[in-house]
Amino acid sequence: MKNTMRPKGQSAQLTLLTPQYDEIVLTDDVRKAYGSYFTPGYVASALYERTFPDLGERDCVLDPTAGLGHLLGAVPKQVGAIGVEIQPELAARARQATGRPVVTGDIRTYDIERACDELCDGRRVTACFANPPFSIGIIEAILERAYHLLPQGGRFASILPVHFFHIASRTVRHNRQWSIACELLPRDVFPRLAQSICWAVFERDTKRVLGGFALYEDIAAARALADRYRRTLRDVAVEPWRVVVLDALRDLGGQAHLSDVYRVVESKRSNAGRFYREKVRQQLQRYAVRIGKGEYRLPDQPNAAYAA
Ligand SMILES: C[S@@+](CC[C@H](N)C(=O)[O-])C[C@H]1O[C@@H](n2cnc3c(N)ncnc32)[C@H](O)[C@@H]1O
Repeated sequence: MKNTMRPKGQSAQLTLLTPQYDEIVLTDDVRKAYGSYFTPGYVASALYERTFPDLGERDCVLDPTAGLGHLLGAVPKQVGAIGVEIQPELAARARQATGRPVVTGDIRTYDIERACDELCDGRRVTACFANPPFSIGIIEAILERAYHLLPQGGRFASILPVHFFHIASRTVRHNRQWSIACELLPRDVFPRLAQSICWAVFERDTKRVLGGFALYEDIAAARALADRYRRTLRDVAVEPWRVVVLDALRDLGGQAHLSDVYRVVESKRSNAGRFYREKVRQQLQRYAVRIGKGEYRLPDQPNAAYAA
């Protein structure tokens, strides 16, 4: 589509920066309801160059919540691009400004696979470039859709509120599917924004690396334990994980199968997954006596580590 809004010689994102577009299109209420806060064009270009310099003409980039098309406008012409936007007037403006296909719909339910088949000129969506509304539910839904859409090695890169990563178990759960790397962004990218924001790159790979996150696995594992064992982790200074598993064996009569140890140490309320299992297994292998397949008993001197 021809971009009639773009003055000759100017790039799409610069044209879109003109403030009257924001004012014409959106009232404050609508902005809040849909989380319509647009990425400044120069930031969109810098983020694209930082993250996707390797993309070429066989690739296609999806912006799942395209707004006025500022992110799409940063995708070089030779790379395919497609957007989804829930507000029809914005989708129309994004199409007009960038010349890219921008479909109107809700990314949580839209048949995006079909739209990509029809509109991406035979290219596969290998990257998502996003700045979604800052709602955990929508971000989770978009990540889930992206996971199914992207091939191995595909990336979902997004401006996100830092609070998306506040809970260890959520991050570790996503890390079961993605490698995740995160860097802080200054929040004054957006005028009057009260939340901290970051640039997060999720890569669909088998390495499952966490970059820029400290102790998330450990804290998710500890949070999944029953209160009594969690208190042990908190209050014991010397080798607390060793004390937890030996206490559990003691609670089970001095010997037990791995599955019983898991059962007693896990919180009934926990839906944090099985983060602690690896830790428990490792400690049993190290400090208990193996007496059969998955079967362990207390060592003869279970407190030896204290005495040493
Ligand atoms: C934070 S703005 C970002 C727009 C653009 N990606 C950018 O960076 O400038 C988020 C956009 O998502 C749209 N949106 C909100 N919920 C959506 C949904 N469920 N599906 C598709 N778009 C949605 C809003 O209308 C808004 O334009």
